[in-house]
This record gives sequence, C-alpha cells and structure tokens, in this order.
Amino acid sequence: MTAGIDSDKYYTPPAIASRALERAQLASTPTICADTACGSGSLLAAAEEVLEARHCLGIDSDPLVIRQLRREKPDWRLYVGDLLKRHRPPPTDFPGTCYGVDLLVLNPPFSLGSRKYVTVKYSGHSVKCSVAMAHILRSLELFRPNQGAIAVVPESLLYSNTDQDARELLDQDFSLTELLQLSIYTFKGARVNSSFVQFRTPSGRPLSSIEVMPQPEDSIPTTVVRGGLQMHAFERAPSGVRVIHSTTLRSIADAGITAATERTCAVAKGRISGWMLLLPRVGSPKEEAFRAFYSKDAIQLSDCVIGMKFPSKVAAFSAQRRIRAHWKSLLCLYRGTGARYITIDRLVDWLYGIGIHDRNAMKEMSELTLI
Ligand SMILES: C[S@@+](CC[C@H](N)C(=O)[O-])C[C@H]1O[C@@H](n2cnc3c(N)ncnc32)[C@H](O)[C@@H]1O
Repeated sequence: MTAGIDSDKYYTPPAIASRALERAQLASTPTICADTACGSGSLLAAAEEVLEARHCLGIDSDPLVIRQLRREKPDWRLYVGDLLKRHRPPPTDFPGTCYGVDLLVLNPPFSLGSRKYVTVKYSGHSVKCSVAMAHILRSLELFRPNQGAIAVVPESLLYSNTDQDARELLDQDFSLTELLQLSIYTFKGARVNSSFVQFRTPSGRPLSSIEVMPQPEDSIPTTVVRGGLQMHAFERAPSGVRVIHSTTLRSIADAGITAATERTCAVAKGRISGWMLLLPRVGSPKEEAFRAFYSKDAIQLSDCVIGMKFPSKVAAFSAQRRIRAHWKSLLCLYRGTGARYITIDRLVDWLYGIGIHDRNAMKEMSELTLI
C-alpha cells in the first residue's frame, strides 16, 4: 500500500473479509485454507467461519504476529517466514485430509519500497512484477491450491504494465473475477484503490501435486538446545563432561554415548542430559546417524550440533519416528549460499508443523501475550 515502510501491516477488517468470502464461487467446501501473509489472521478466521474450512495454515514474516496468533489459534498451523524466500511449502498433513491446500486467502504486502519491480519464478518462468503479484505467484506456485485463491489486490495489479507478463501467465491457469471493490479507507493508515479478486481454477483440474506427508499423532514436547562449544578453542580434560561434535553423531547412533570420547571442563552453552535426539547445525543430516539415546550425565554440545531433549524414552522415539517420516522436508531446511545450515527458528517452526513443540517457544508465546 502507499505508506509501506512497515511490511504492510494493513490488516483486513474482519467484516470486510467475511463479506468478500461470502461472494466466493467455489466448487466445494475447502478443507484446508492457507494465507501466506496472514498477519492477525482475519482472512483465515473468515475462511473458517464463512467457508467452513476445517484447517488453517498461516505464514507471516513477522514473528510477533505469529506468536500472538499461535496463542489465539492453537489449532492452526502457523509459520514465521519470508514467503518470497521459501522453496517448498510447509507440511500440509492435517489429520483426516489426504491432499494439499484447497484455497489460498491473502492480502499480500503491496509496497515496493525503492524498487521498481521484483523478480520471481512461476511455472518455470522468471517474471518481473510488483510485490503483491510476486507474493501471489509464489503462493500459487508453492501450494498449488486445488481451488485457486482469493486475494486483496491493488488496482494497479489488474492494469499496470509492471504486472502485464504475470497476468498473462496467470491467465493460462486461472480465470479472474472481482468479488468486492474496497473503499480507499478500508485499510487503517493506508490510502489505496484495491479489491478482493478470485483466481479460479478450471473445473476438473487435478488435485494438488504437493507431497503428501503422514499424519502426525499427538503433540510431543521437547526442549531445543543449541550447542555452544567452539571446537577449535576448547581445552580437553579427562575428568570433564563428554563433548559431542557433528562428526561424532554417526558413532553415537551406532554405539551410544560412550562413543563420544573427548571431554572438557570448559563451560559453554548447550549442556544437555536425559533422552535426546541430535542434529548437525551445518552440513546435511544423515538419517542413519539420527537415533534417540540417553545420557544420565550432562554432555556438552559443540556449536555445530543442535539437541532436542525429551521428557521420556517414549517421547524421544516417537519424535525420532516422526522426524524420519518427514526427512526429505527436514533436508530442505538446511540452506545457505556457502555451507548449508539450519537455524534454530527454522527448526522450531518446522517441528511445530509436525507436532513436536519446543517448550521455550511455547513459553515465549505465553510471556508475550501477558505483556
Ligand atoms: C497487508 S498485511 C495482511 C495481513 C492479513 N492477511 C490480513 O488480511 O489481515 C500483510 C502481511 O504480510 C506480512 N509480510 C510482509 N512481507 C512478507 C513476506 N515476504 N513473507 C511473509 N509475510 C510477509 C506482514 O508482516 C503483514 O502481516
């Protein structure tokens, strides 16, 4: 929108969201709805209420709004992330469903800032377009929703030269109808000519080609621990605690904790004991080196290892099974221009999506809403 220096936090008023969705023409009730710039969640809430969607999935680049929303909507799948940087959708394996997202509902960011256009990939093409269009194209490409999308778009997206190429590409897959013209006063703090439009798929389009993930069982609590010992700088001490580095993970999986022979008295972040699973932070994790194990004594994780601590053996082995069932999507979390690595935030979000809940993240959420 015009005043977009703040990531376009111009949330859709709930009454407007409902009014627009009431006008949608859908082939059937959408089971799963997703919003890739979900903000305060008003479009997903309207999808639940008006369209009777059973499951909601939201992404937003702002961790604070996602934390708040997770607290308000514990049944929704919510992820922090920059949609334009995602290469894969998050898991859409909701209980009782067997395919991907049915409908996207979104009010994307509009502001280009100082840029004239952005470039995104859609359907094998590299397209120059506005930010709003880029967000729509990437969302359609990532989720391949069976029934297309309903989106708030600026008037310019429908007519400008900037979005001409993108419109032509979208024309090949969708028909576009305007559902509701919005007043320039609809969004508090922004003045923009915009409307709700629907991108409809032709009837008979095959279901989404998104990889189907197994259904998660019950939620598993964990505590994610980032290792902090720098391997090149620590002092070895025979009477100290065992040190775990990423190169030790395979032998520990085969022979248990006794395979870690190096010890230190150095105190660093990342001490852990009890039932646990370990992943390398850098490189690429190996499925055969990923096995739950127990250590009565605290062990020290190097800064190249991330630990997940579990309250029981059952929880640790259930998490092992569940993570292994989603191994391919775990591998996609390891990214980087040089060496591939995973961040704690990325891992915690992903674990949340498969029903493994980090206690610290959950605590942070409740503290946040108490303020
Ligand atoms: C106009 S608001 C819409 C929020 C919500 N869908 C609604 O209609 O109320 C745009 C949202 O997009 C988020 N956002 C901006 N850039 C993003 C990006 N690259 N990836 C994901 N979310 C983004 C902002 O944090 C903001 O919450």
